[in-house]
Amino acid sequence: MVHTAEYLPDRGHSIPSILQGGYNHDLTREWANERQLSKNMFIFPLFVTDNADDEVDIPALPNIKRFGVNKLIPYVRGLVAKGLRAVILFGVPLAEGAKDKEGTSADDPEGPVIQAIQKLRKEFPDLYIMCDVCLCEYTDHGHCGVLYEDGSLNRELSVRRISAVAVNYAKAGANCVAPSDMIDGRIKDIKLGLVDAGLAHKCFVMSYSAKFSGELYGPFREAAGSAPSHGGRKAYQLPPGGTGLARRALVRDMNEGADGIIVKPSTFYLDIISEAAKICKDYPICAYHVSGEYAMLHAAADKGIVDIKQIAFESHQGLLRAGARLIISYFTPEFLDWLKN
Ligand code: PBG
Ligand code: ZN
Repeated sequence: MVHTAEYLPDRGHSIPSILQGGYNHDLTREWANERQLSKNMFIFPLFVTDNADDEVDIPALPNIKRFGVNKLIPYVRGLVAKGLRAVILFGVPLAEGAKDKEGTSADDPEGPVIQAIQKLRKEFPDLYIMCDVCLCEYTDHGHCGVLYEDGSLNRELSVRRISAVAVNYAKAGANCVAPSDMIDGRIKDIKLGLVDAGLAHKCFVMSYSAKFSGELYGPFREAAGSAPSHGGRKAYQLPPGGTGLARRALVRDMNEGADGIIVKPSTFYLDIISEAAKICKDYPICAYHVSGEYAMLHAAADKGIVDIKQIAFESHQGLLRAGARLIISYFTPEFLDWLKN
């Protein structure tokens, strides 16, 4: 074969510039992933109400419902059959008078979370049951802790109460407690509480360590009825620009005995996930793809801007690239259909 002079390549060097042969097939494109999405890294959020027979759509969260304990079981059975491994529970007390200053209904033995833990544990012995631990869904003021008269957070009373709730979830059979309140010092109190209860060897403490305040929790607060009645959460959730505070919170929670850490939200905080993967390199890093991220992707799909499956893969692959090993995601049921294993 004769080449004309202008097309004759320089053969004096190796040619590392030619990459496309490395990803010209579906399989080699999968080989390019350092980590592959798999069913065992997905954790599905479940909203559980205190009306046993509830099954109610959440307009802001397409395909997500609030369930009472009776309706929860058949729903979860279908997902377990598709390979669901882990859930995270959020209680939604709706009964008149169910909310008070200390969030008593959070760990009420007859309340939604304890009831759901016990029923799920009995029906699905292998399902990994995680519980979000916070007071905002259960307090009349909607804040994540116990307040002083002036409306600011009382740290001591808050962490004592949060630790008690976490221990009660563990006693009821939760495999993992995940405090999302972001109040200083609660990991240590929870670990001490678990030790005193003889449960520290059986319960994983997954800390929401780098949790930022912002606009992305709106649909969740609608789903859980947990919007604060006054002020916001800026005094205890991190400011969006607070990289240094996030690093300090990660180190603090490791030192207090966390077994794993959560970065939340996820897509807008990929740098924090990547930092966390370095700072907490010996810990599982979990990214929380939050309600606002989920709702935005659905809104974009509804407008014809993106294909929901393609964008779900792209966004969740981004979380793995950044360094996440686990993902809390409202897309979990879809991924159980989309992924082979
Ligand atoms: C409770 C809690 C929230 C989320 C998880 N745990 C809401 C909040 O902090 O206001 C948000 C999850 C989501 O938006 O999907 N503190
Ligand atoms: Zn809260």
